Amino acid sequence: MSPAAPPAETAPAVLARAPGKVNLHLSVGAPRRDGYHELATVFLAVSIYDELTARPAERGAGVALSISGTDTTDVPADEQNLAWRAAQLLAAHAGRAPDVILELTKHIPVAAGLAGGSADAAAALVACDRLWDTRLPRRDLLALAAELGSDVAFCLSGGLALGTGRGERLTPVLAAGEWHLVLAVAEGGLSTPAVYAELDRLRAGERPKARMPDALINALRARDLPGVAGLVGNDLQRAALSLRPTLRLTLREGADLGAEAGLVSGSGPTCAFLVASAGAAVRLAASLSAAGVCRTVRIAHGPVPGARLAHAAGGPGSRRPG
Ligand code: C5P
Repeated sequence: MSPAAPPAETAPAVLARAPGKVNLHLSVGAPRRDGYHELATVFLAVSIYDELTARPAERGAGVALSISGTDTTDVPADEQNLAWRAAQLLAAHAGRAPDVILELTKHIPVAAGLAGGSADAAAALVACDRLWDTRLPRRDLLALAAELGSDVAFCLSGGLALGTGRGERLTPVLAAGEWHLVLAVAEGGLSTPAVYAELDRLRAGERPKARMPDALINALRARDLPGVAGLVGNDLQRAALSLRPTLRLTLREGADLGAEAGLVSGSGPTCAFLVASAGAAVRLAASLSAAGVCRTVRIAHGPVPGARLAHAAGGPGSRRPG
């Protein structure tokens, strides 16, 4: 008989963290029968992380979730939260009770187009898998992630990847080097379904197809900054601008201040600006902040690894949170 795992009540707490993302390319096809849209997207995991601690709970207690961080008043602390649902789904898959105390610390801006909720789900999968000693194979964790949401599998994998399907089918993009970004975080969020619905409204009568980002992927592999800058793009941007016209000012200001490229991140309203170096990021962040065209400015780089246990941080290729 193999030695039994310690009972949950005595297992030590587990800390996981997961990154947000920016889409360097987001091409949206027609709506599918299931309500989702076929995508071709390039995900870049960026150095802004949410942290999640999972602690053992008493038998039968179920999931308990507390949330801290800035601007978290609109984040549900119940089964609507993706981290909560991730814990429940993993427990159901492993055939055990979902008894866990989750403490979530949010640094990724909420409803901002940066996949903060998806990052929390990815962190919960990794943390609970360790806490409960379920030791699921990677492909099972990825399948559960894809079930939870379109961006969760990417938040688990991290790096730089092509996403197809509704975004959950991932192919890593093997490109060396680091990309520097400035994120202009807007006042208030945008609802992802509302942005997709606005895009459908704007494209009524059209038969859009998701375009593959082959040229962008080649430019990323070649570390061709002007090439990448000329090829990034997001079909959801026109819908986000339609719902939030003031984002035009933010994008224009970033361009005037010398960003190599600027685009709305995911469904917005965060605007992501690509810059040449860490120094250029600091300068653009200061100028954008002074221009008063957004609520707050964050500097980030990518690609960074996906969701992982915090004690694994600091290994080769990993970075401290930015
Ligand atoms: O998968 P997730 O729960 O993150 O998606 C949130 C919403 O975004 C969906 O309910 C849908 O309205 C929209 N969506 C979409 N097509 C995708 C991804 C998301 O229409 N590929």
